[in-house]
Amino acid sequence: MARSLSLLERLGGKTQQDKQPTERPRLPKPEAKKTPTPQQPAETYTEKQIQQEREAHVEASAFAGRRALTSRNDVMQELKLAVHRRIVDEMTPEEQQVLVRGEDARDQIKNIISVYSNREMAESAYTLSRGERLQLVDDISNELLGLGPLEPLLQNDSITEIMVNGPKQIFIEQKGKLKLSDVHFYDNAHLMNIIERILTPLGRRVDESSPLVDARLADGSRVNIIIPPLSLVGPAITIRKFSKKPLSIKDLIGFGTLNEDMATFLEACVKARLNILVSGGTGSGKTTTLNVLSSFIPHTDRIVTIEDAAELRLQQIHVVTLESRPANLEGQGAITIRDLVKNALRMRPDRIIVGEVRAGEALDMLQAMNTGHDGSLTTAHANTPRDVLSRLETMVLMAGMELPVRAVRTQVSSAIDLILQQSRIRDGTRKITHITEVQGMEGDTIVTQDLFRYVQERIDEKGKSVGHYESMGLMPNFMDKFQMNGIELPPSFFTSGRKR
Ligand SMILES: Nc1ncnc2c1ncn2[C@@H]1O[C@H](COP(=O)(O)OP(=O)(O)OP(=O)(O)O)[C@@H](O)[C@H]1O
Ligand SMILES: [Mg+2]
Repeated sequence: MARSLSLLERLGGKTQQDKQPTERPRLPKPEAKKTPTPQQPAETYTEKQIQQEREAHVEASAFAGRRALTSRNDVMQELKLAVHRRIVDEMTPEEQQVLVRGEDARDQIKNIISVYSNREMAESAYTLSRGERLQLVDDISNELLGLGPLEPLLQNDSITEIMVNGPKQIFIEQKGKLKLSDVHFYDNAHLMNIIERILTPLGRRVDESSPLVDARLADGSRVNIIIPPLSLVGPAITIRKFSKKPLSIKDLIGFGTLNEDMATFLEACVKARLNILVSGGTGSGKTTTLNVLSSFIPHTDRIVTIEDAAELRLQQIHVVTLESRPANLEGQGAITIRDLVKNALRMRPDRIIVGEVRAGEALDMLQAMNTGHDGSLTTAHANTPRDVLSRLETMVLMAGMELPVRAVRTQVSSAIDLILQQSRIRDGTRKITHITEVQGMEGDTIVTQDLFRYVQERIDEKGKSVGHYESMGLMPNFMDKFQMNGIELPPSFFTSGRKR
């Protein structure tokens, strides 16, 4: 009996019927929904982006409405629950032993499930097509072995991001576009069960006292989990899937993220040890671009990478990968990105790559860039090259040193040589919309100059952006760094107003 109960727990969805008390984490009462929604930081979203998000949401809701009418889905859900119940009630000791073997016995487990599904269908009024039967067996084995409804989404390589907003709404990003998927969990308890399954092997947990967690799945995918009372829509999971093969510069050119001239120029910039900041909105492809830029670093350099969750995959051999650490349950033992940047300076790095600067570490990073660790790379959240400079100023002030604004600006302008602005545009593609040089200070302002730009001409009938990349034809001030590092670009490279 005890065995059956533990399997029952794994099946999750059974709770609806059984109403047995379980040890699952408690979920908030519905009145929690009255609490006001926390505000988004104003600077991370433009009005346009908010509008775009709204439109996407309306589109998705319309789709959800249509889906609610498809009773076929309901039939499948009913059957799944019935088969779950049967397995728990009727399973033989031999079958239990197979189930205990887990993933190693996936095929055998599928056979067992298939026997029970056939039995259930023979006795019930429902009939399923062959495809639907296979789907049913797949779904149930995913419940038992993997991450339940998330499993097929995780296995589908064309899905790059999975966003669970409570049990009934799972959005996915596919080919750069957000869509509502047609899978869902039974209820909050089922979703919490899967969350536990994600976290337990990692030795992490989430509950009312620590309701948010950042982690990585076994395959390297980045996961964020936030549960009630902080999330008002029920438990929310965001998974940034780890692509099996990291994108290369050729892929980015192929996707139209930049053109060949820009790629040649960026390669020269990395080799000439310029300090580069990749700026962009959330999910715009900053980390991917950072990874691609890092591929241009010579193999002779010693590289130290610093991230919250190690996402970068460098091809060089001489790389030290550092990862920050959150505080433990007693609120102690946190090692921040800032601590790691300070530590990296004592590790004799030729290059420091910081996955993302968000706060006080910006000061240490700028100081490093200004004191001989040139050729460093990082990213920051901002919507334009101008914005990212003021974001950096704010971050430096967050370091807690009472520095005059002018001193901060001077630091920023002398440390950063180049800004790449990246955007996810309406049609789902990612584009490097600006390559901007930071020239220095004039009075109290930082002077910048665009070297390349994406010019959108129109949106075609399929909603695709039609445009071209343009070289502004301007010679950057840092050409001396190219010469010092023996990097050459043909003199014709910067020819005024060329469409490239
Ligand atoms: N140039 C590109 N073209 C198409 N897809 C891309 C491109 N760059 C990144 N992607 C995809 O977009 C998703 C987000 O990429 P990435 O993690 O690099 O974004 P990010 O800006 O670092 O996001 P975050 O702000 O969450 O850290 C990934 O699934 C990635 O595969
Ligand atoms: Mg990132």
